[in-house]
Formats: sequence, C-alpha cells, structure tokens
Amino acid sequence: MSQVILISRNEVINSLYEVNLRAYVGTNVTIKANARDALQLLDLSPNIDAVICFKELNDADSGIDKMLEYIEQKEYNTPLIVLGELESPSDKVIVVKNKYDLKQVLQSMAKILEITAKDMAQKKVPDFFPIPLKMFSQISKSHCDIFYRVEEDAFQFNYLPIIEADSEIGGSLQKYIDEGVENLYVPASERLKFINKASSMVVQELERDDLTLEERSEVTRQVMNVVAEEVLENEEISAEMASISKAGIASIERMAKETPKLRNLLKMLIENPGDYCYKHAVVASYIARQIISKISWGSDEQANKVTFAFFFHDIFLVPIYRKYPDALSEEDLLFRDDVTDEEKQVVIDHAKLAGQLVKTFPRCPIGADMIVTQHHGMTSGQGFAVNFKDDISPLSKIMIIAEEVSTNILQEFEDADAKIKVNKEAVANHLYERFRNHTYKKVIEAFEEAKL
Ligand SMILES: [Fe+2]
Ligand SMILES: [Fe+2]
Repeated sequence: MSQVILISRNEVINSLYEVNLRAYVGTNVTIKANARDALQLLDLSPNIDAVICFKELNDADSGIDKMLEYIEQKEYNTPLIVLGELESPSDKVIVVKNKYDLKQVLQSMAKILEITAKDMAQKKVPDFFPIPLKMFSQISKSHCDIFYRVEEDAFQFNYLPIIEADSEIGGSLQKYIDEGVENLYVPASERLKFINKASSMVVQELERDDLTLEERSEVTRQVMNVVAEEVLENEEISAEMASISKAGIASIERMAKETPKLRNLLKMLIENPGDYCYKHAVVASYIARQIISKISWGSDEQANKVTFAFFFHDIFLVPIYRKYPDALSEEDLLFRDDVTDEEKQVVIDHAKLAGQLVKTFPRCPIGADMIVTQHHGMTSGQGFAVNFKDDISPLSKIMIIAEEVSTNILQEFEDADAKIKVNKEAVANHLYERFRNHTYKKVIEAFEEAKL
C-alpha cells in the first residue's frame, strides 16, 4: 500500500483525507503534527510516496523551503503537496490551492502513483474498511453495520459487529474512545457511501474565521451535495440534515454579506467548473438579497427566507445536473435528447417536490415551502410559467427575477478569463420584456437600484 505523511493538526481534515486517500487511491495516511516529526519519519522510511502539508507551515519556524531543502539534501524522491495558495511556489511542490478540494488532492496523488480510476476500481480490497473513530462521532446513524476488529492471532483478525445499521450510534462509542481505539470498520462494499455521508463533518469548518472565500465556498458546496444526497434518499429532512443545511445556508448568507461585489463572487465560482445547482443558488441568493434590500417591505428575515429557499429549490435536480454537467438551465434539460423521460418528469415537477420536501424541515421558516413551490411561477409547482401572473407570493417573484438574472449572468460569463462586468441596463431591459406584469416591474426597479 502506498504511504503519505500528512502534516496537520486539523482533525476534520485529517479524518477526511485519511479515508478518502485510502478509499480512492489506496494510500495509507500517517498524520504528524509538525514538519520535524514528519521528516523524522521520512528518515526512517524514505520511500514514502508523498508529504502533504498546509501552506501555513511557512509561518512556523520550519517552513516549506526548509523541508524541500532537507528532502533534496538527503536525496529523497518524495514529492511535496502543499495545500493553499503560495505566493511564489517553488516548481518542486505540487500546489492544491483550496485545502478542501479533496478531488484535486486525489488527482495529484493518483498522478504521483501513476494510477487511474480504472486501476482503482479493479483493485481488490479487503472485506472491511477502516474508518477513523473520530468520524463516527460526527454522525448519528450509519446506513450499514459497524464492526470492531480484534486480533485473534498474529495478523489474524476477527470483525465483531458492534452497531447495527440504522440504529443510533450515540453513546455506544464512548467505550472505544476510552480504550484509545483508532479505527472502527465498515464492510468494504459500503465504504464509498459511508464516506460520502460522513463527509458532512466538513460542515464544522464553516465555523472557522480564517476561511478564504474560495475555501468557504468549497465547503458549502460539499455540504449542499451531502444534504442533497441524503434528503433525496430519505425524502425528508432529518434533524441532523436540517442542522447541516442551516450551517450551509448561514454560510451562503455570510458569503453574500461579506462579498461587496457580485463580480468577485462570480469570478470565484466560474473558475471552478461544474456544479451548476450550487453556483446558481449562491448567485441567485446574492441578487435576491440585494433586491430585497431595495424593496420598501424587505427585511433581513425575508432575505434569509429566500436564501433558505434557494438552498433547497432545485435540490431534486442535483443528480440530473451531475449526470449532464454541461446543462445550463432547466429548459436546457427539458429539451435535450439525451435526458430520459423520467428525468424530464422530475425537471417538470422539481419545484413541487422541493416544496413538499421543505415542509418536512423541522421548524421550517413560515412560507418557505410555498415560495420554493412557486419558484417557476406556477402555483402548483409543476411546469414553468410562460406568462408570469400575479397569483404567486411577492417573495417568489423576487426569486424568479433573481434566478433569471443569475441564469443570464452565468451563461454569459462561462469563461473565467472573460472580463466580468454585469451590464445591468441590458439585463433590466430583458427582464422588462419577459415579465410584463406591474408587480414584477416593482421588483425589476429594485434590481436596477440594487448594488451589484
Ligand atoms: Fe434554480
Ligand atoms: Fe428550478
């Protein structure tokens, strides 16, 4: 098995990296708290495949350059992967700009190890897969049985089931924590599903104050995807998923409040390809919040309600957009030949389905389910309005205008190198053409006044 050393004191990252590297590239991770300990280990086993560290290591007395120097002087061939944007990176390091961008870390590792996704899929894995105990403390239930490993004989292991699938994990872990057990086990066939679910632990990182906008966005994107996967499977929002969603929604609110220019937000989102559902929910929330701030009856409470609604409004489309990553809007999905009839039906019903789902959110903000249902201008939540009428709630109208603007902008600035400048006048003219009813006109006027 390949080996890496991860220099980190961040327990969330440690657990996530540990399981993902093991599951996706078959790498064993040893965690060290500082560069000195890492280099000591490297001296003992110089054929370690890579060392991963944060750019913050530069602030400590043993910086990245010193590590490189040491590795070179000892003539080790160990590549160094640095997490975070370095000002002037040496060409000897592999930089992963966003430390939460696990996918890129996995790609870098696969490249170092010269393995492909196909190699990994064909690889034989043992029947049980280790999961750090810390990861279990973040979830209330596991979808599969959990096992404890005992060594019967030298290298002869026995796996005892200790927690049954779908039962509360609760206090049953304490005993193992007290004993200093590091890993518990899940059946290997369930490992990817388990890891995906447990990845919601990344949500804790949203509480940090030192996140860059990119980092916050990446964590929020992951949170939204975990929520989507989970709630679509269960068709309801559990207390656990509600609390995770709340953190994701609060994070979108924070991004909107702390990014003075829409341009900055757009640039960052466009630079990262894919995930249209996440991106347009963020952009549309931003625009809707600006519109609400210019409407006489607008309040913080309504701004937050709309952000909440945007988080869930297209959640049923997440798996469909994932399958057709180049699709740019719901209309696009409806008219494509490669989208199946069944999927098209979900597209037609997605507002209604999302409204029903939001109703299951414990203490759902009043009326949020309704504005989700109406987000395409239909009171039933089925289909897409062509003539936008007055029969829907005023907040839904704001959502509709904000979505229209965000779809337009995201289509226009598909290319991150293009100069991003939103032509408000042209967008407003388009809106006046499309939404002719006078109650929409009020919203468009607020959009014209809004700071973007
Ligand atoms: Fe949408
Ligand atoms: Fe939608």
